[in-house]
Amino acid sequence: MRTLVKDLLGSNVPRPGVLVQGWVRTRRDAKGFSFLEINDGSCLRNLQAVVDAATPGAEALPRCTTGASVSVWGDLVASPARGQPWELRATRLELIGPADATYPLQKKGHSLEFLRTIAHLRPRSNLFGAVFRTRSRLAQAVHEFFQSRDFIWVHTPIITASDCEGAGELFRVTTLKGHPGERPEDDFFGRPTYLTVSGQLEAEALACALGRVYTFGPTFRAENSNTARHAAEFWMIEPEMAFCDLEGDMDLAEAFLKAMARHMLETGGEDLGLFERFVDKDLRARLEFVVERPFVRISYEEAIRILQQSGRSFEFPPEFGQNLQSEHERYLTEEHFKAPTTVFNYPRTIKPFYMRLNDDGRTVRAMDVLVPGIGEVIGGAQREERLEVLRDNLRFHGLSEEAYQWYLDLRRYGTVPHAGFGVGFERLLMFLTGMGNIRDVIPFPRTPGHAEF
Ligand code: 4AD
Ligand code: MG
Repeated sequence: MRTLVKDLLGSNVPRPGVLVQGWVRTRRDAKGFSFLEINDGSCLRNLQAVVDAATPGAEALPRCTTGASVSVWGDLVASPARGQPWELRATRLELIGPADATYPLQKKGHSLEFLRTIAHLRPRSNLFGAVFRTRSRLAQAVHEFFQSRDFIWVHTPIITASDCEGAGELFRVTTLKGHPGERPEDDFFGRPTYLTVSGQLEAEALACALGRVYTFGPTFRAENSNTARHAAEFWMIEPEMAFCDLEGDMDLAEAFLKAMARHMLETGGEDLGLFERFVDKDLRARLEFVVERPFVRISYEEAIRILQQSGRSFEFPPEFGQNLQSEHERYLTEEHFKAPTTVFNYPRTIKPFYMRLNDDGRTVRAMDVLVPGIGEVIGGAQREERLEVLRDNLRFHGLSEEAYQWYLDLRRYGTVPHAGFGVGFERLLMFLTGMGNIRDVIPFPRTPGHAEF
């Protein structure tokens, strides 16, 4: 049975008779024997196998080149070499699959741009191995965070008939072929359907029964913005709480980000060390800061005032009624406050229909959490629970009531104040790893013009 490199390198005792299977990172030949650096993806480090020329299977050594897959049986013994506690004294070698000189990951130091063109092979590099292991641990931590607080994980549909965010960034789902004479009602669902941009509306229905729920799944946006923070397919975590107001929502968002930063510090290990060395030397300090210090909380109007009084000339002049642009978000978090900042009470005009209207009639109980380096990682709100106001909001945003009858029912029958938010899982990963581009924290990124894998 195969033993993982991670377990062998973490061993306290020598282990005779183990089998290691992985990919050759490098081979060095000495007189009468060779060193194979083997990586099996279980951890950042390689295990060094020492293969004697007399070892059964050693005749395959010349073909055990970088990228080849191998099985090595042997004994784990204390290594005389510096920098590694253990090495494997091979008793048998088997080449599983060779890799010739065209293998693209021969040398270190490829650019991230180049690695994106070989998304199927880049997980074999140190950096991307670390990113995808971190992604897995973080997903687990997300579930632990919510499950330990009695949130119930719910599965909301991926195919939906509603545009939750009302931004019109929907991918159509259809079986129509575009033949002449085809009618809309001939479509598979008998109505227009889309890939979901958010599971929120359905999560609200579940929260208004189960109390506290969360979703964690893929979402899709046909947003034609080719930025380092936007993907057409990304994962979102959406908690939704009945009997909760905006204050409670902001508290949960802050507790969540702190818990994720703490988790990264506590479990990041060698992968975190790699990000610190090669991606962002301030990463650990930033994570510690996020864990220790309270976030700044300001209203949107205060944020606009700060931006207007900053003396900065922004490309988009900050003005009430305008969305905060990435340059504004960065100024607030990176220069003015130098801390994660929660901005709340946005103008009604720039936020979706479901947000609760404030008494001033012109702002809604929205909140966005902005972090240095990325900007918005979380967007959420207290929901409008008053039937008549919600109807008015629909009209205000030019939406037909008809499509939202089921959603209005939640206000017709036993309505309660409730609130929630959405976290972009990839943006969270960017924040916790220091990776600067969303394309580098998702294995096979989908962005405008790119779906090749
Ligand atoms: O702010 P958004 O649009 O909020 C919603 O969808 C709400 N329905 C969430 C809720 O209240 N339940 O999106 C939430 C988060 C953003 O803050 C951002 O982190 C991420 O989703 N996000 C994206 N991430 C990657 N690529 C994109 N194109 C993204 N659009 C949003
Ligand atoms: Mg948003």
